[in-house]
Amino acid sequence: MLCTLELRVFCCQIDIDKTELTEKGKPTVTAKSADEQINTNGSKPKSKLPRKGKYGSNTLSVHGGDNRARAHQSIPMPIIQTATYAFADTADLINFMQHKSWGDGVVGREEYGRYGNPTVQAVESKVAALEGAGDAVLFSSGMAAITSLLLASLPTGTHIVMTGDCYRRTRQFCITFLKRLGIETTIVETGDYEALEAAIQPKRTRFIMSESPTNPYLRCVDLERIAEIAKRHRVQTIIDSTFGTSINQLPLDYGIDYVTHSATKYLGGHHDLLAGVVAGRKDRIAALRDARGVLGGIVDPQNAYLLERGLKTLGLRVKQQNQSAQRVAEYLETHPQIERVWYPGLASHPDHEVAVKQMIGFGGVVSFEVRGTLEETSNFIDALEIPYIAPSLGGVDSLIEQPALMSFFEKTEEERLELGIKGNLVRFAIGVEDTDDLISDLEQALKVLTK
Ligand SMILES: Cc1ncc(COP(=O)(O)O)c(C=O)c1O
Repeated sequence: MLCTLELRVFCCQIDIDKTELTEKGKPTVTAKSADEQINTNGSKPKSKLPRKGKYGSNTLSVHGGDNRARAHQSIPMPIIQTATYAFADTADLINFMQHKSWGDGVVGREEYGRYGNPTVQAVESKVAALEGAGDAVLFSSGMAAITSLLLASLPTGTHIVMTGDCYRRTRQFCITFLKRLGIETTIVETGDYEALEAAIQPKRTRFIMSESPTNPYLRCVDLERIAEIAKRHRVQTIIDSTFGTSINQLPLDYGIDYVTHSATKYLGGHHDLLAGVVAGRKDRIAALRDARGVLGGIVDPQNAYLLERGLKTLGLRVKQQNQSAQRVAEYLETHPQIERVWYPGLASHPDHEVAVKQMIGFGGVVSFEVRGTLEETSNFIDALEIPYIAPSLGGVDSLIEQPALMSFFEKTEEERLELGIKGNLVRFAIGVEDTDDLISDLEQALKVLTK
């Protein structure tokens, strides 16, 4: 009862001027200004996050984009587990088809599972609200999101520029699959803006694409600068914001055209689903949604439900992960057995200033180099009690890996070093465990290096 009352009061408090109205005339919660933002590290925000609207990221994580229209008045969005949708009669079918062909889209129903699903749409609206986007479209994985966006947008003969420190499967897709379709990719060093601009080919280049922060060195690209270069050359921009999260940075506010996430990571947050999302301008996302209906990468309703549930705690989880990662990074930086720490929240990181300018918190991943060989580094990892040894990141359970033995296992040492992956490099994806416990665990495991 209390809960119902609180929700009613909450509904009444919504400032209609600062919210969008959904087609049903119900207010949709939109975002709050930078000054009203939550603090991610218990102190004053280090940077301005120019969210538009009234609500902060925790409120948006719970209520963002939600018109609260539910079958049977349930609180959570139900799982609409269906592959197709019935029409009452032929007149109903014709009415739907006519509205669809007129392109108004306001028909209040779906036609077939590959084109849309109410549970999936609930997630799309929430991500759009969090990202400050016109709309968002959900896919079956982060790779399905990226590949669908590129396949749907790039005709043969076009070209993209991407930054080097990026997810290896994205790079693989661009330099092998896109190449076969006659689409060329130029890879430039992350942070080299002159090289990036010089790589743009007039009339051929369609996209500048980058991750921020990157994997595993957490390089942060200057979003404003990339957007400015792109606009000058009439090129569009894509930022994979998986490591950034919708809490710590909002690339669209800096003039970026598309934001992508592997929702498998922080957005889902529990290592129990695969999904991906692209957010951007409403008309562009509508075109991409149509392309998804052809390419087929829609997410399953069960997974969409898990993602919606996970998203409700996104703000809380990321806040904890930011705080823990900062403390872990500071602890490791002073430890005699650690050679180097890579974390954008540290002044020693090459992109610290860029990160401070455009991020509220610096994320939950800390990379570091142990003072030791590949084997000694493995001994340290094996001595840890809390994190699982596993790929991925962004969930409630901490995960740790030695990239040389995980993503780059099949490469020779020479090939690995060429990509900057040393045997003693460790990527620690911090979960929501108590920070003191994570630090004590590191402390005891690092002792194996001195034995
Ligand atoms: C930055 C980044 N982008 C995209 C992906 C691909 O996402 P998914 O595994 O959900 O396909 C990953 C996966 O690790 C990633 O780290």
